[in-house]
Amino acid sequence: MTPDAPPQTMVAPVLTSADARDTATYARPEVARVTHVDLDLALDFAAKRVGGTATLDLLTAPGATEVVLDDRGLQISRVTDAGGAELPFTVGQSVEGRGAPLTIAIGTGAERRRIAIQYTAAPGAEALQWLAPEQTAGKAQPFLFSQGQAILNRTWIPTQDSPGIRQTWRARITAPKPLTVVMSGLKQGETEDLGDRRAFTYAMDKPVAPYLIAIAAGDIAFREIGPRTGVWAEPATLAAAHHETADTEKMVVAAEKLYGPYRWGRYDMIVLPPSFPYGGMENPTLTFLTPTFIAGDRSLNGLIAHELAHSWSGNLVTNANWSDSWLNEGVTSYFENRIIEALYGPRRASQEAALSFAEMEGELAKAGPDNPETALHLPDSVAGPDAGLGGVIYDKGAVFMRTVETIVGRPRFDAWLRQWFDNHAFQPATSAMILADMKANLVGNDPALAHRLMLDEWIYQPGLPANAVRPNPAAFAEVDAAAAAYGTGGGVPQAAWAKWTTAERLRFMAKLPRERTAAQLGALDQALGLSNEGNDEVLFAWLQLALANRYEPAVPLAEQFLARVGRRKFVAPLFETLMGEGEWGQPLARRIYATTRPGYHAVTTGTVDKLVLKKD
Ligand code: BES
Ligand code: ZN
Repeated sequence: MTPDAPPQTMVAPVLTSADARDTATYARPEVARVTHVDLDLALDFAAKRVGGTATLDLLTAPGATEVVLDDRGLQISRVTDAGGAELPFTVGQSVEGRGAPLTIAIGTGAERRRIAIQYTAAPGAEALQWLAPEQTAGKAQPFLFSQGQAILNRTWIPTQDSPGIRQTWRARITAPKPLTVVMSGLKQGETEDLGDRRAFTYAMDKPVAPYLIAIAAGDIAFREIGPRTGVWAEPATLAAAHHETADTEKMVVAAEKLYGPYRWGRYDMIVLPPSFPYGGMENPTLTFLTPTFIAGDRSLNGLIAHELAHSWSGNLVTNANWSDSWLNEGVTSYFENRIIEALYGPRRASQEAALSFAEMEGELAKAGPDNPETALHLPDSVAGPDAGLGGVIYDKGAVFMRTVETIVGRPRFDAWLRQWFDNHAFQPATSAMILADMKANLVGNDPALAHRLMLDEWIYQPGLPANAVRPNPAAFAEVDAAAAAYGTGGGVPQAAWAKWTTAERLRFMAKLPRERTAAQLGALDQALGLSNEGNDEVLFAWLQLALANRYEPAVPLAEQFLARVGRRKFVAPLFETLMGEGEWGQPLARRIYATTRPGYHAVTTGTVDKLVLKKD
């Protein structure tokens, strides 16, 4: 180790069992693994490129002579050892979506060593979206953000891009004035003034999965919420962002009460421009959020509860590979609902759980019985970094946790889940591990209980086990009755709608008959004001219904929505609906996509290209 090595931070174990193997990485961590990443990078907004030096700390096995990293499109100019001597490297055959192995000859030497890679990310690096000023709320400055999960960080960081290979990191990033840089770690020292640029340093001293290294830069400002919580946004969005996130400190308190201490120091958020391709991303210390959750009434802040919950399920205990995404997303969706219950009471929680359950049922029905993609643990035949159905990984995963909770009782379940987080903190995990843990610490020597829980079936079998706890039918009794009455020819429940919560409105939209005439859609819009809807979830539900019925008057609104919003969950289904509407919808989809596509992140275009640009 060189004298200037940082104090060695925590080194997390890498699992070696067969079920923990990650087929999406080229890394061979048992030979040589990255334990720490030190980035010194410059953001070039004119060229839309990031480049500089990545210095990696390696832990090597005896006899190791090379280290293999993941590389997707990086332009590497030079690799050196700790003494500055040049190291030979080769970039292997590239595979679509996965990139190529970057193999660096490190010779023989000490168990711990350090290498430095000088590189530039490709202009089209898929993790990054470089926004022109017009794509921001302020319209004056450019903006940059990254999205690492699942395997996109290899497009801008040369490291071992696998969730089972945890790394600490530090980064010094320079950006042109007046932009501010934020990252998914804690700020170090003062911002450096370099004349027309500034340098910002961030660090994460806990080993994290490398998909959690994230950056954003733009004309952004910060407002405090609580002692360890706050929100970043563009100045034009900050007041609305602050109002919508105001309950966050209370959520952290509730989450800690449920499952133990929040271990990351700060919990801040950034509300990004609307092209952010996800609802949220749980980047440690700095959750990334879509502005489309800003409804004005905090009714969509389950998103914050979700990303916060990942501070335990996902960031603390992490799926070792992408076959076990449910360990991140399913456990988190359950935890999210518990936070909502703690803050807003059982009624809202049971309504949101019922919406999620219906989502799951729809997806299971669509997938069909025995579909391997409906198992929580994805078998090799269907595994991949982007595999899995949301209705399974998120919603079936949450129902699994709720079912176990109901059978063993809440106190016992909560104690079990808390020890799971405590005992696997900062470590990767697999389905087999959580199953063994449940058997040891929850079931014990109780064959009758084991029989009632059906744990193996939940994790490894497709479909929904017979013991699944179903949502409380009382949650939506009134709305379901109103939807049924409307569906059999009754009037639009205008007065009731006015009093309904967002969850109730979404339920009503989901329960409407799918086939509607233009006259019926016009009446619905008229009565409920759907065309002027300010809640993007409700607006999306309306546009889906309208386009599926070839309702011409909704086309301009759909076009505006698709031009404003890049969130894949909204954009992809709308284009899919249009493409399903033959000679009416397909030309529309192609025309709209031609103008909106340049505004989308690669995550969204990656999905929509397959829907709209497909040749058949
Ligand atoms: N970690 C996910 C986003 C993600 C998953 C990115 C897989 C890439 C690959 C995040 O926590 C998430 O689940 N977001 C949801 C929010 C929701 C369920 C409340 C989203 O974006 O819609
Ligand atoms: Zn999630």
